[in-house]
Amino acid sequence: MMVPLRAAAPSPEVQDQATVAGKGLELAFEGVTKAFGDVGVLKGLDLVIPAGQFVAVVGRSGGGKTTLMRLIAGLDGPTGGAIRIDGTARRGLQPDVRLLFQDARLLPWQRVLSNVGIARDPGWKARAQALLAEVGLAERAGDWPYVLSGGQKQRVALARALVTEPGILLLDEPFGALDALTRADMHRLLTRVWRQHGFTAILITHDVAEAVALADRVLVLRDGRVAEDITVDIPRSARATGAPRLAELERRILSAV
Ligand SMILES: Nc1ncnc2c1ncn2[C@@H]1O[C@H](COP(=O)(O)OP(=O)(O)O)[C@@H](O)[C@H]1O
Ligand SMILES: [Mg+2]
Repeated sequence: MMVPLRAAAPSPEVQDQATVAGKGLELAFEGVTKAFGDVGVLKGLDLVIPAGQFVAVVGRSGGGKTTLMRLIAGLDGPTGGAIRIDGTARRGLQPDVRLLFQDARLLPWQRVLSNVGIARDPGWKARAQALLAEVGLAERAGDWPYVLSGGQKQRVALARALVTEPGILLLDEPFGALDALTRADMHRLLTRVWRQHGFTAILITHDVAEAVALADRVLVLRDGRVAEDITVDIPRSARATGAPRLAELERRILSAV
């Protein structure tokens, strides 16, 4: 049985908007720098991500993408500058920001339902069950994680990330280890839950096609700065068919990486 988690989803006609109404949080970077010792990784980021936007970040390996995620999540602090969430500069762990990694990181000694319902407040079981239904795994609540496929584990991790209704969801190459068909399923699922829940999404990917398929906006991180900030001005309904404009955007991103 579905438990209503929030207000009704926007109607299908308005679902292609770049930003949906919801509890997404705005994210602002003001002169953000990060160095490890003498090595500057982020060299000054100034950028606003509006509440509810879906942003993809692409860039070369070692370019500072994961570092950026860790700063947003509050797992590490910037060397200089400030990161504001809905206008408030915050440091330390951010409870309204959740992270999804390439590996699902499920607890092997907990069944699927308990992996989703990490906070054991009253009603956690019904909420966890509803989230599992949303990611298409309602029947697997009583299973142990090891019997699930890689894609199913990522679905459980997604349900777990959503159970606290985060304002920002950070995805650090979450589909990198999946086969192409499973990845396409995950793209559809992620788009659906993003529309449904309204969080601000930041997806790191080295797959430029994935970036333009999913995001409203693609940031190219190069030499510690945002080298390109590209709006994906194609309705989502037109993206699957591979519009020529998509190929043009892909070329532009690839030449900037
Ligand atoms: N805790 C750390 N200590 C020292 N160097 C680090 C640390 N974390 C990341 N780095 C360095 O910062 C650079 C960016 O790393 P990372 O953010 O993981 O890049 P990406 O995710 O884009 O591949 C790399 O050169 C990496 O070695
Ligand atoms: Mg990384």
